[in-house]
Amino acid sequence: MDIGPYTVDPPLVLAPMAGVTDRAFRSLSRRLGAGLTVAEMTSSDPSLWHTEKSRLRREHDCESVPIAVQIAGYDPQRMAQSARLNVEHGAQIVDINMGCPAKKVCRVDAGSALLRDEPLVGRILDAVVAAVDVPVTLKIRTGWSATERNAVRIARIAQDCGVRALTVHGRTRADRFDGEAEYDTVAAVKQAVRIPVIVNGDIDSGPKARRVLEHTGADGVMIGRAALGNPWIFGAIRQFLETGIDAPAPAREEVRLTLLAHLRELHALYGEARGVRVARKHIQWYCQSRDDAEAFWSRIARVECAQQQLEWVDAFFSPAWTAQHAA
Ligand SMILES: Cc1cc2nc3c(=O)[nH]c(=O)nc-3n(C[C@H](O)[C@H](O)[C@H](O)COP(=O)(O)O)c2cc1C
Repeated sequence: MDIGPYTVDPPLVLAPMAGVTDRAFRSLSRRLGAGLTVAEMTSSDPSLWHTEKSRLRREHDCESVPIAVQIAGYDPQRMAQSARLNVEHGAQIVDINMGCPAKKVCRVDAGSALLRDEPLVGRILDAVVAAVDVPVTLKIRTGWSATERNAVRIARIAQDCGVRALTVHGRTRADRFDGEAEYDTVAAVKQAVRIPVIVNGDIDSGPKARRVLEHTGADGVMIGRAALGNPWIFGAIRQFLETGIDAPAPAREEVRLTLLAHLRELHALYGEARGVRVARKHIQWYCQSRDDAEAFWSRIARVECAQQQLEWVDAFFSPAWTAQHAA
């Protein structure tokens, strides 16, 4: 799958997830098989550009190419400015968020709320495409609601404005995260445009990825929640698409080493106090499939010290812990 000058191979994309897909998680996902990752959404409101949160979200040192950054907002000129700022800070692809259902975003008519105003969508896309000389991509839902499902019209607008790839999450804004993603609208979008289409929503395994790719004809898949605590999913999907063989779950030792490296990255990126807090949710995700995690979790949830957090995780994944708790 080509996005402007960049070939995304394999065509497996880590979804932008605010509060999750920081540099540490993006690097890990790339190392384990994602062909592209998208940074957490950054606001186009200039008053928020210099906060610590925004600064960290623009942190791209040593990231794999291409670096894709997502912007959100509703004002074309501010969006254009924000795109330029991000390109100055290293973005090589600018993704525009018209998919987020969060109240914080929709109250100001940004995110998926924009899908209701097609002329404004066109003005935003025109302004951002004109502002930067890197590829601009767009992420949408299928529409505002079941009765306002306008993804095909939005896709055509995007293509006409010079957007280089489109991601479609197979839910409407009204669906939020309820029910199951539907892929018929994504298939209709793919039929309607020539730019690459990336399908998103509820893709959590190689067999599912293959079914959805076949059903929609999409050029790539984007994975969000299924990668939480499971960055190996990219390698597993790639293997399944190439060979039809399902990869086994990673060995406990592999999980131990990967999680420890991930935690060290988080501690370095955010500093000790915040790093330990951010790390907690990741630890919980890595452990969620294990039935012996409860005792461990109740202890580690209160740890404030980075070294202690590493030691507890190390112990939990050791053969000694398994032996003791199996006994
Ligand atoms: C915690 C979380 C944060 C998210 N943040 C963003 C975001 O910043 N921008 C965006 O476009 N979508 C965001 N999303 C939506 C995902 O990118 C994706 O479209 C959605 O989770 C559906 O894909 P999935 O079923 O593979 O998770 C977020 C989702 C989650 C769960």
